Amino acid sequence: MNHVIDLHCHVLPGIDDGPATIEASVALVRAAAAAGVRVMVATPHVSWRYPNEAPTIARLTGELNERLRQERIAVEIRPGAEIAMTRAGDIDRAELPRLGIGGGPWLLLEPPFTPLVTGLDTVVLGLQSDGYRILLAHPERCPAFHSDPEVLRSLVRAGALTSITAGSLVGRFSSEVRRFALNMVAEELVHNVASDAHDEVRRPPGIAAELEQAGLGPLNDWLTLDVPEAILSGEPIPPRPAFTIPRIERSRRRMWPHRH
Ligand SMILES: [Fe+2]
Repeated sequence: MNHVIDLHCHVLPGIDDGPATIEASVALVRAAAAAGVRVMVATPHVSWRYPNEAPTIARLTGELNERLRQERIAVEIRPGAEIAMTRAGDIDRAELPRLGIGGGPWLLLEPPFTPLVTGLDTVVLGLQSDGYRILLAHPERCPAFHSDPEVLRSLVRAGALTSITAGSLVGRFSSEVRRFALNMVAEELVHNVASDAHDEVRRPPGIAAELEQAGLGPLNDWLTLDVPEAILSGEPIPPRPAFTIPRIERSRRRMWPHRH
């Protein structure tokens, strides 16, 4: 399984809550390589707290790739960004297209962690009408979607894709987040699983082992290779292989409001 593409990780040094130094970045990439990752899209926060810009992201991506070549670590870093939804509307129109995932048309958009979110669909639909494609970052960790999954369903129906965090599937956040993530998979609302790594220990870069542990091994290639390749190349997203998760039916009835 030495072919995982990680579309969401904080691997660039010193510009957000990821590694503080390039040495720590290298340690993170080394751990990712050991976990089967071969391409990492560096997605530093672009938010009110971390107002990063494309030229800095491009420069640090180049520096890290050079360092990885010297260290003979066979992982390629590509530039990207995790754009806070609350910030998206204030980003310069010339800057926004330079923040796409791997330089392509897809934006990794982070919904707020607040329980009530208004205007979320307006932001997503507005960006889509401007020609961007939207990949939602870890919606399974967003309380507003927990209280109203229909908002999430409607965004996916409108063309947004979702990228959930590997750690969510194995209970690294909470059992509620884990259940929500598995229910999303069951409803075919998950299109990608990424690491959202921040370091090699506390928020680690693995993906494949977490998928296996969650019983989602048969979806591994689609989630971590086929869909990411399509997102990076701008090609159509391939259909998901047939798959069911019978063992979560009980929690599903308890936690997942029925469609209406
Ligand atoms: Fe992130």
